[in-house]
Amino acid sequence: FVTAPSAADLLAWYDRHRRSLPWRAPAGERPAPYRVWLSEIMLQQTTVAAVAGYFVDFIRRWPSVEDLAAAPTEEVMSAWAGLGYYARARNLHACAKVVAEEFDGRFPDTEQGLRALPGIGPYTAGAIAAIAFDRRAAAVDGNVERVMSRVFRVETPMPQGKPEIRARTEALVPEDRPGDFAQALMDLGATICTPRKPACALCPWMEPCQGRAAGVVETLPRKAPK
Ligand code: ADE
Repeated sequence: FVTAPSAADLLAWYDRHRRSLPWRAPAGERPAPYRVWLSEIMLQQTTVAAVAGYFVDFIRRWPSVEDLAAAPTEEVMSAWAGLGYYARARNLHACAKVVAEEFDGRFPDTEQGLRALPGIGPYTAGAIAAIAFDRRAAAVDGNVERVMSRVFRVETPMPQGKPEIRARTEALVPEDRPGDFAQALMDLGATICTPRKPACALCPWMEPCQGRAAGVVETLPRKAPK
């Protein structure tokens, strides 16, 4: 018999092990939506280590979304050089222009509103809504899929298992501190619940983890055979 995983146990772990990253506000404060959006776009398919320096450079050069919107596209593209996936940079600039010109420099504060912007899909909309606006939204990326597939022992191969994983993540998001919950899940996936040799002994969800109880943690998430 295993107990259910709780947001409270994950948040208590986050309070002790929270990584200080350039886009994070001090504990208890909300980061500016511009910073959350910029970091989440940069972090798609790219590691924290690779992004950190670029993020600091962009913020120094373009401190607000209006500044970024006013920059020539070629300057934004060359500042992005090295991060890869260049469609992200084009969408980034297009999004900055929409926010600056049509929304008076303010990002929409709901998932639905965010989804309508260039380059913002379900993951990014959930992350911004939760982290910048404290909305009860889930941010499900590959790392979160790995954590959740293990904790709930979702054996359905990806991508068919995605809807169940999203539903289970949404059900766990707390009323209080949804932004910290989203970032705690990201940190857990990055530092403890790693693809190989996860550090289960250090995990705040070791006890409720059904994958671990069954001895199948490293086989999850399953991938459909090609
Ligand atoms: N990966 C994606 N978003 C992240 C965030 N806000 N913090 C750390 N890692 C992330």
